[in-house]
Amino acid sequence: MTNIHSFKRKKQDRNKISMVTCYDAWSAKILNQTDIDCILVGDSLAVVMHGFDSTVHATIEMMELHTAAVVRGAPDKFVIADMPFLSCSKGLTHAMEAVQRLMQAGAHAVKIEGADHQLPIIEHIVEAGVPVMGHLGLTPQSIHNLGGHRVQGKDQDSGEKIMKQAHELDLAGCFAVVLECVPNKLGDCVSRSVSVPTIGIGAGPHTDGQVLVLQDLLGADPDFSPKFLRRYSNVHDLVSSSVQHFHQDVSEQTFPSVEESYG
Ligand code: KIV
Repeated sequence: MTNIHSFKRKKQDRNKISMVTCYDAWSAKILNQTDIDCILVGDSLAVVMHGFDSTVHATIEMMELHTAAVVRGAPDKFVIADMPFLSCSKGLTHAMEAVQRLMQAGAHAVKIEGADHQLPIIEHIVEAGVPVMGHLGLTPQSIHNLGGHRVQGKDQDSGEKIMKQAHELDLAGCFAVVLECVPNKLGDCVSRSVSVPTIGIGAGPHTDGQVLVLQDLLGADPDFSPKFLRRYSNVHDLVSSSVQHFHQDVSEQTFPSVEESYG
């Protein structure tokens, strides 16, 4: 199984890290049989699995439940669980309770969006023995403050701010940092200047790894097509045609057959 040392080693050896966001046991079981390096139980589950319009709606109960399901499905994978909305903004005790719940659900590390006021909390969590993955650039929990899903760090000031935050996360003890929706050049600069690996989503080809949400890379939602997404399947059409076929067989009374029935 990957561990926090493998992350650093991969960066040193210039081997790219693959991470997939996954939310449930049955897909985790499939991922467990692949070579991907790690699984993220992302708070994007509020949108993908629960139909909310943003990750603001992910609660610690949701994160805990989905983390436990993924860990049961993928016992051989390193699993990182997202700290949900505001869990690091209501004081240390609140943050540590959330960390405890995610780790006891089976996660091997937690991911925290942002830097700034989160830094002392991140330091404390790391000191307590829990690996922390940072997350900079487009941080979806701050979507209302960012004014929507847009590329971050496009001008010099905001680019320099992300560079500074990445250094701070590195110093605070994060073992890796997700960079979401930033220009390629910034993805490259940050990746070359921090000691820990960067894992990009919409951050260009130069980050030390890449992450995509499983449903997105499978093509489950034809309406979701950001520039950074590569679809490796068309699960939307596969599911739709399979279910339609089942419906037709039931309607036409061709299912179940004699072979599919008990004598
Ligand atoms: O919630 C999530 O799935 C994420 C990744 C897209 C990085 O944070």
